[in-house]
Amino acid sequence: MNTLAISTNKGGVLKTSLTTNLAGVLSENKKILIIDTDNQGNVLVSFGMNPDSVETTLYDVLMGAAPVEQAIVNVHPNIDVIPSNDNMSFLEFDVLKDSERFKKPFDLLKQAAGHLKNQYDLILVDTPPNLGLVQGNVLSFVDEVLIPFQPEGYSMRSLVKILEFIEEFKEEINPSLKIRGIVGTLVDSRTTLHSEVLQQCRKYCMENNVPVYETIIPRSIRFASSVAYEGKPATLTSKRNSLVQAYFELAEEVFE
Ligand SMILES: Nc1ncnc2c1ncn2[C@@H]1O[C@H](COP(=O)(O)OP(=O)(O)O)[C@@H](O)[C@H]1O
Ligand SMILES: [Mg+2]
Repeated sequence: MNTLAISTNKGGVLKTSLTTNLAGVLSENKKILIIDTDNQGNVLVSFGMNPDSVETTLYDVLMGAAPVEQAIVNVHPNIDVIPSNDNMSFLEFDVLKDSERFKKPFDLLKQAAGHLKNQYDLILVDTPPNLGLVQGNVLSFVDEVLIPFQPEGYSMRSLVKILEFIEEFKEEINPSLKIRGIVGTLVDSRTTLHSEVLQQCRKYCMENNVPVYETIIPRSIRFASSVAYEGKPATLTSKRNSLVQAYFELAEEVFE
């Protein structure tokens, strides 16, 4: 594998935190590219930059207005980013209204950035919280998907749906797509509901041959906010709290 999307149809479940912190861990000995496909532009924000200040974004690249190289921003030794910002929210409309020009609307990312795959050890793709045109481009482009799972009352139903969605996408559009695994996020292990729902998740996934990692990312308002002002993902700071520890352990499990 050298392309991994962090995807699910929900917001606020640590997609961006996972993407940037795993990049932080792996950049120690790997050359990493992060492609931000979410119009919130939070990948650059995580590295202390303003996504509205960049000249070329993924939107321009996907619309064919700029070569992908022009959009690459180096944010840390061994970490490059292709940023998105609010322009990205126009992509779906702009592509769908011009079906003459965009004959294969799910192939835009693949066509524009496919050649980057052999220039990086790993490409991580951060995604928006829905399953539209952008997500379709991501799932056509990547080899594997990492799915964050926040254990709440209705989470199982939604997980089953996303797993079925990816299975269908694989059958119809990208036969080489694989689910790398599921990671529990924002987990409060003292909460009985969280433990129960995580148990259900592990049971369901075992029966369906989907890996679920032992490592969970704990909910931690204190640690999450303590790193928010440093302009770097927590794993690139000198902090070694339980949250940072969890990302290091997760990286080992996912990329062993
Ligand atoms: N371990 C944590 N515990 C609690 N809140 C967190 C934690 N890690 C990150 N957060 C906060 O949760 C919010 C959502 O995280 P984010 O990674 O942006 O999710 P997504 O990309 O799925 O929308 C952010 O405001 C972030 O600061
Ligand atoms: Mg995000």
